[in-house]
Amino acid sequence: MKIRTVYRCSSCGHSAPKWMGRCPGCGTWESMIEEVDATSTAKGTAAKRRAQAVGSVLSTPLSDVQADQAQRIPTGMVELDRVLGGGLMPGSIVLVGGDPGMGKSTLMLQLAAYAGSLAAERPCLYVTGEESLHQIKQRAERLGISANGIVAASETSVERIAALIEHTSPSLVVVDSVQTITTDLLESSAGSVAQVRECTSVLTRIAKRSGIPIIIIGHVTKDGMIAGPKVLEHMVDAVLQFEGEGTYSYRVLRALKNRYGSTNELGVFDMTSTGLREVHNPSEVLLSNRNANEPGTAVVAVIEGTRPLLIEVQALVSPTGFSMPQRVSTGYDAKRLQMILAVLEKRGGVQVRQSDVFVNVAGGIAVQDPAIDLGVAVAITSSIMDKPIPNGVAFVGELGLTGEVRRVAYLEQRVSEAVRLGLDQIYAPKSGDAKLSNVVPVERLSPVLAALFG
Ligand code: TYD
Ligand code: MG
Repeated sequence: MKIRTVYRCSSCGHSAPKWMGRCPGCGTWESMIEEVDATSTAKGTAAKRRAQAVGSVLSTPLSDVQADQAQRIPTGMVELDRVLGGGLMPGSIVLVGGDPGMGKSTLMLQLAAYAGSLAAERPCLYVTGEESLHQIKQRAERLGISANGIVAASETSVERIAALIEHTSPSLVVVDSVQTITTDLLESSAGSVAQVRECTSVLTRIAKRSGIPIIIIGHVTKDGMIAGPKVLEHMVDAVLQFEGEGTYSYRVLRALKNRYGSTNELGVFDMTSTGLREVHNPSEVLLSNRNANEPGTAVVAVIEGTRPLLIEVQALVSPTGFSMPQRVSTGYDAKRLQMILAVLEKRGGVQVRQSDVFVNVAGGIAVQDPAIDLGVAVAITSSIMDKPIPNGVAFVGELGLTGEVRRVAYLEQRVSEAVRLGLDQIYAPKSGDAKLSNVVPVERLSPVLAALFG
């Protein structure tokens, strides 16, 4: 039976039998996306099926449903469990996104080996459209993991993958990657929005019906987002994002969405020659290479997810050779850096107009917590003054446009993590709570700079 497809406008929903550059319904350009025409699939029997379905569906009083029926499946990695909200939920569908080379395949192969080892008679199915089975085997050997519980398939047709799942009845399925698989129902090429969406919906149905968790890997760049979380977000139960800076070995796994746990949880890994290692004490690791006597560095206490992290911020300020000075930042928002520089110039009396400014968050961790601001401003000033910040000092605080240091959440956790790591003087915004020891309360940026650099 030939399935009909239609083109539907992604902004107004207008449908047309042919692709059009501009939607006749709302006039939006490039918004028509191919999809399976639902009315063409077994039109005549639809009513009959509906009648059958009603006959077979039973509702259950919610009071009879056991909440613990859904036993979470541990992943063998505390860091991954945390991001998932305590393990994998049966029947859940999880999208793991991230730039190519981040280590998505590596992490999932490690997970597959563990999941496969849990249930002897139910292997873990690893489907790849990216690599050959030979390459997978080589990687497993390099990672030193047992391939016993893993069945692998090099397959790109979602229909055959569905058959495979039915046939092997695995305990977990990994599909690597969503950009390589296609459904026979659509003519558009692999990786197109229509294919990615249709394939995901097929896999979602399988996961829900069978109770088998399915993990889909997707190459998703943070800014690119082509056929990425934007179109899949609402279809999946969780979206995990793998982040890191190319030259660093640290990787951060974040939950951008999680139906079964809190979002913005964070897992930290280290990419080694034998795979990803969990980092349970990121602050210690991130501060271990710190050279406290260097000007231009400051320790900040940020919260990522629910976890306090102590990280070193580095800044280098040097006279520019260009008419437009350079501002380069890694791990810190570039727009915020511009703002901090303007505040320093205007409210802190620090001259940066004629200077190139480089800011780097050590470890390549992309910090989203604005409480890093004060530390960034201090590190920049320290580089300009060529004067190091005293040992044992950390910074917390968001900067406002008038140079005020704003309050931040979870001050107590930040301070106690800093104290735990031997930092005993924490410059932090005045808090309404009872006085915290080791805190130097600050309200504005300039007195902080005056106290540190005279
Ligand atoms: P990979 O898992 O293939 O990334 P992704 O699936 O996200 O594209 O990992 C890619 C990088 O990780 C690759 O450049 C090599 C490196 N790597 C290690 O450093 N150690 C290892 O044990 C493995 C398997 C990979
Ligand atoms: Mg890969």
